[in-house]
Amino acid sequence: MTHDDTRRRTPLTHVGGAITTKGDADAAALLAEALDNVTEVDHDELTHGFHTYAARMHPGIARSLVANFSSTDETILDPFVGSGTVAIEAMIAGNRPVGVDLNPIALRIASVKTELRREGGRERFVNIANEIAERSETRVRSRVDARAPIPRDETQYWSGHTLKELAGLLEEIRAIDDDQDRRAFEMVFSSIVVKVSRQRSDTSKHDASRDPSPDPTSQSSRGIRKGLPTEFFLRKALELVERWEVLSEFAPERAHRPLFYEGDARRLPRVLPPRVRADLIITSPPYGGTYDYVDHHARRYAWLKIDPRHFERNEVGARRRLKGADGLRTWDREVADLLGSMAAVRTHDRVPIIMLMGDGEVGNRRVPADEQVNRLAPRAKLRLIASASQERPDFRGGDPRREHLLLLG
Ligand SMILES: C[S@@+](CC[C@H](N)C(=O)[O-])C[C@H]1O[C@@H](n2cnc3c(N)ncnc32)[C@H](O)[C@@H]1O
Repeated sequence: MTHDDTRRRTPLTHVGGAITTKGDADAAALLAEALDNVTEVDHDELTHGFHTYAARMHPGIARSLVANFSSTDETILDPFVGSGTVAIEAMIAGNRPVGVDLNPIALRIASVKTELRREGGRERFVNIANEIAERSETRVRSRVDARAPIPRDETQYWSGHTLKELAGLLEEIRAIDDDQDRRAFEMVFSSIVVKVSRQRSDTSKHDASRDPSPDPTSQSSRGIRKGLPTEFFLRKALELVERWEVLSEFAPERAHRPLFYEGDARRLPRVLPPRVRADLIITSPPYGGTYDYVDHHARRYAWLKIDPRHFERNEVGARRRLKGADGLRTWDREVADLLGSMAAVRTHDRVPIIMLMGDGEVGNRRVPADEQVNRLAPRAKLRLIASASQERPDFRGGDPRREHLLLLG
């Protein structure tokens, strides 16, 4: 049965308003339920809020979709896994999470956030964190010199003493023998490095220290005093341990550790080994022409020795590439390739694909994501079975845009 149904739902003030559903009524009701679940689940709970990540999926949406569209032990693929929201939720539900992303930072954040550390490992982590903080404080007090391992034009984003303190912290982290510990501490470092910079946040290029009237509540506008980066670092490390502990309590006894692969979501048959195929796909691709994801982590790449050029060339939906007259054609091609790629790595033809997508903003035109996917799906031998859509305020001040949960099969 198909139907069109618009309902006003209760309090969605910060996330949007009316939810409109289309297509198969039962499936659409489940999609609407998932959109509504944002009021039930804290955006930052478990390890979800450990590291900032632009356009992170709300965990309430992922949790509801996993609960209603899969059963235990199934392989749930997210080909735009980002900071790992779907992977975390699939893992705690007893499923087998598989994540793909083209940005190496995404996979490193997602790996740390899905770690199931037992008590001994967590205690060791706390001890190392305290040791690093102590050594870093000594470095600051004794004015030990350390060179920031980043290009000269990047150094402008931090004050001289903050740069030195960060460089010292990183030297201490790089001296850790255990790979897993070292990589987790690098992500703790990554979670504070923008906060102590002159840039406000991942999504701004603004130099807060040059504000004419600094906001007294903002750390960056007040300037970062000596020792503060170390304090932030230790606080974040301890926060991570607490988050790991909660995650372990939620995860089933024999939880499946996620598999992560760096690669292009449009090339999944080549990115995933043949034995890894999806029983369900839940994902949120970039919204057309909305962000340049590569820029969000611009302040992190050099510190973490990550070369972003491959990602920069192959990022889909990127605002910088969809501005021109040819924008819609490019975006259509990217979405069509993506649909074909996802369709090809399913265990069978009826495996559902669920996408959370916002309307695109391509060459000054709004591109309704539900209409676009409906139009392109048949090329991948898919069809749009149901959708649930909700208005979201546009952060750039234009007409509200709609965000859609789209079910294809
Ligand atoms: C909306 S975000 C996903 C956020 C994720 N659901 C989360 O909760 O953190 C979109 C992601 O697409 C990734 N991406 C962009 N182009 C890609 C491509 N061609 N292949 C794979 N991932 C890509 C970006 O790195 C970003 O992590």
